[in-house]
Amino acid sequence: MKRTTLALTIGLLCGFATLVTTSGVSAEAKKKKRSLTVSQMMSGLVKPKYVALKEGLSKETISKDDWKALATHAALLNESSYSLMQDDRCPDGDWKEAAMILRKASNDVLANIAKENATGALKAVEKMTLSCKNCHAAHKQ
Ligand code: HEC
Repeated sequence: MKRTTLALTIGLLCGFATLVTTSGVSAEAKKKKRSLTVSQMMSGLVKPKYVALKEGLSKETISKDDWKALATHAALLNESSYSLMQDDRCPDGDWKEAAMILRKASNDVLANIAKENATGALKAVEKMTLSCKNCHAAHKQ
C-alpha cells in the first residue's frame, strides 16, 4: 500500500472510531486509556500555568526570556483544552463550551504575547478565567 493510501486509511479508521465512541455504540472503544485524572491535570498543569501566566504578565518589566516562558504557559493551557476533550473526559455541552473558551482565550493570550502586549494578554487571561468558572460551576463538587 502506498504511504498516502495507508495514511488515508488510518485517518478514516480513526474517524470511524470517534464516530462509534461518540454515538456510544461501542463500550470497549469508550474505555479510558490515559492515566492522567482531571484533578491531576488541574492541580499539576492548568492551575500552575494559569497562575504563572497571571503573575508573569503583571510584572513591571518582562524580559525576552520571560516572554518565552509566558508563551509556554499559554501554549500548555491551550493544549489542556484539547486533553479536556479527549479520552472520554467531556461529559456534556457545558464542559465542551468551557474547554472552547479556554482554547480561544489561550490563543488570544498567545497572540498578545507574540506582540509583547502585556495589557492585551491580561485581558485575554480574564476571558480564560470564565472557562474555569463555568466548568467548575457545572462540574466541580
Ligand atoms: C472543562 C472543564 C474545566 C475547565 C475549563 C477548568 N476546570 Fe478546573 N476542574 C474541573 C473539574 C471537573 C475539577 C474537579 C476534579 C476532581 O475533583 O475530580 C476541577 C478542579 C480544579 C482544581 C482542583 C484540583 C484538585 O486538586 O483536585 C483546580 C485548582 C482547578 N480546577 C483550576 C482550574 C483553573 C485555574 C482553570 C482555568 C484556567 C480550570 N480549572 C478550568 C474542570 C475544569
